[in-house]
Amino acid sequence: MSKLHVCIKINGEDREFQVAPDDKLLEVIRREGYSGTKRGCNAGACGSCTVLLDGKIVYACLLFAFQAHGRRVDTIESVGDFDNPHPIQKALVEEGAVQCGFCIPGIILAAKSLMDVNPTPTDDELKIHMDGNLCRCTGYEKIESALRKVIAAGGAK
Ligand code: FES
Ligand code: FES
Repeated sequence: MSKLHVCIKINGEDREFQVAPDDKLLEVIRREGYSGTKRGCNAGACGSCTVLLDGKIVYACLLFAFQAHGRRVDTIESVGDFDNPHPIQKALVEEGAVQCGFCIPGIILAAKSLMDVNPTPTDDELKIHMDGNLCRCTGYEKIESALRKVIAAGGAK
């Protein structure tokens, strides 16, 4: 199968790849070392592969890599680090909201994409926005309380 040449700005860095026409974005970004993006269901049902495409949440397991050509992709690697965590990361840790952690990169990016445009969403807005990110461990209460803590402090900016 002939390869396609794609250019994607990942976490602010211009990257170029040769991809097969049926390569999913998830396969390509993980292959290139952005392994914080997790493969859960691989079928658009869990949200663990969430990344931001031009600032909007997408499931990387559903998107062909060539569809990101010429666009900006942000992965969890673009959000904070151990020494300087993003407010959402800090709140999730403080509230004890992380168990196995598999869902957490997607949860963080989904919440961030909302708070970037709406720093103080209502409870309903938050629930609707986070509807596509499943967690099999926590029962959601601690995740919710962490996100509400960030919102109560004025948002994540
Ligand atoms: S791995 Fe993509 S939605 Fe589950
Ligand atoms: S912490 Fe395990 S899936 Fe959410």
